[in-house]
Amino acid sequence: MTVPVLTIDGPSGAGKGTVSRAVARKLDWNYLDSGSIYRSLAVAALVAGVDINDEPSVTAVAEEMKLAFDCGDELTVFLNGENITSQLPLESTAKVASIVAAWPEVRRVLLQKQRDFKVLPGLVADGRDMGTVVFPEATIKVFLTASAEERALRRYKQLKEKGIDANLAQITCEIEERDRRDSERASAPLKIAEDAVLIDSSSMSIESVIAEVLALFP
Ligand code: DC
Repeated sequence: MTVPVLTIDGPSGAGKGTVSRAVARKLDWNYLDSGSIYRSLAVAALVAGVDINDEPSVTAVAEEMKLAFDCGDELTVFLNGENITSQLPLESTAKVASIVAAWPEVRRVLLQKQRDFKVLPGLVADGRDMGTVVFPEATIKVFLTASAEERALRRYKQLKEKGIDANLAQITCEIEERDRRDSERASAPLKIAEDAVLIDSSSMSIESVIAEVLALFP
């Protein structure tokens, strides 16, 4: 039986996580937050003390790391048995994630880990290359974006709510730098799948984005 997949790709802070989680809950489908896998690898590489600019070393860490996900109301992630959830939202983790994610061998190793999430009754997959590389066969593909200023503001509020110290100007710079790195890398860059529906959430409420995504279902 074919497993239906909805992919939601786009840059950091476009609202992919919130929208994907809400849609998955509504449909009672599984949810893959692929960014959390790259963020977990960033934590694993830092714990292992490897040079993040050395592809073979980072690939070895990706091959050996054991990840377990607890998808309750909030995602909890265990790396080799240790709860690393609180380290995942940090900007420092995001930056390293974006660097290690550029290595083709790393992406190859993480491909199957992501495809393993595709089980009945269906999957909502959120990331950068869900519709282009990981699940090109997806039933419905969405590319969710928003202006860099709006995304920075959302990330700033998110971090503040979590009690994490944040600086808006710095976040804007970091988001622009990450966008550039994610879009310009040779391996699986951030780009719109040919058959994706583009949604610009800059001036939309999260509820209207969720409604627009759900309306794509026949
Ligand atoms: O979605 P996020 O901000 O949690 O992702 C963190 C980094 O991981 C992002 O800068 C690039 C990388 N990433 C990726 O290369 N491919 C994905 N499918 C998801 C994330």
